[in-house]
Amino acid sequence: MRTIVIGLGLVLMLPLTAQPPKKGGPPAAVTEAIAVLHPTAGSKVEGVVRFTIHGDAVQVTGEITGLTPGPHGFHIHEFGDCSAPDGTSTGGHFNPTNMMHGAPDADQHHAGDLGNITADGSGKAVVNVTMKGMHLVGPMGIIGHGLIVHAKADDLKTQPTGDAGGRVACAVIGIAGPKKGPPK
Ligand code: CU
Ligand code: ZN
Repeated sequence: MRTIVIGLGLVLMLPLTAQPPKKGGPPAAVTEAIAVLHPTAGSKVEGVVRFTIHGDAVQVTGEITGLTPGPHGFHIHEFGDCSAPDGTSTGGHFNPTNMMHGAPDADQHHAGDLGNITADGSGKAVVNVTMKGMHLVGPMGIIGHGLIVHAKADDLKTQPTGDAGGRVACAVIGIAGPKKGPPK
């Protein structure tokens, strides 16, 4: 009988040890998401992009390298699935409100339409855009979806893709940890 009681006690303790130290109350709100872009097959494009809540908007910041100079389409895609070597496993643009493709500041645009990033002569693009109405969690939340950098510019009008060509980098958008950057 004693072994049964001890055994039961251990079983009950296991889930407790797997939880964060803070007891009670709702989990802390998610205020930042992160996407680590990896090159697709034949590409050298990589980078880190952060999505940070500022009031009713999300600020998108980061650096992407290995690009050809000039503009490149930049979108959140439906699936957080970079398993295909060409990134097509991320599906089409993230579009939970069933809108047309467009510029991020246009009346009609997919929730995932981030427009273009522009690489300098060294192939580096600095990202810093503020997206009104973007959400990290909930039905419109971007976490769990994909992030794609394209080979060509998004013309901001061709349906439903912006005619941005192939996919040169792919990421899954996840919840950011409290530490910034790689451990030193
Ligand atoms: Cu795209
Ligand atoms: Zn779109």
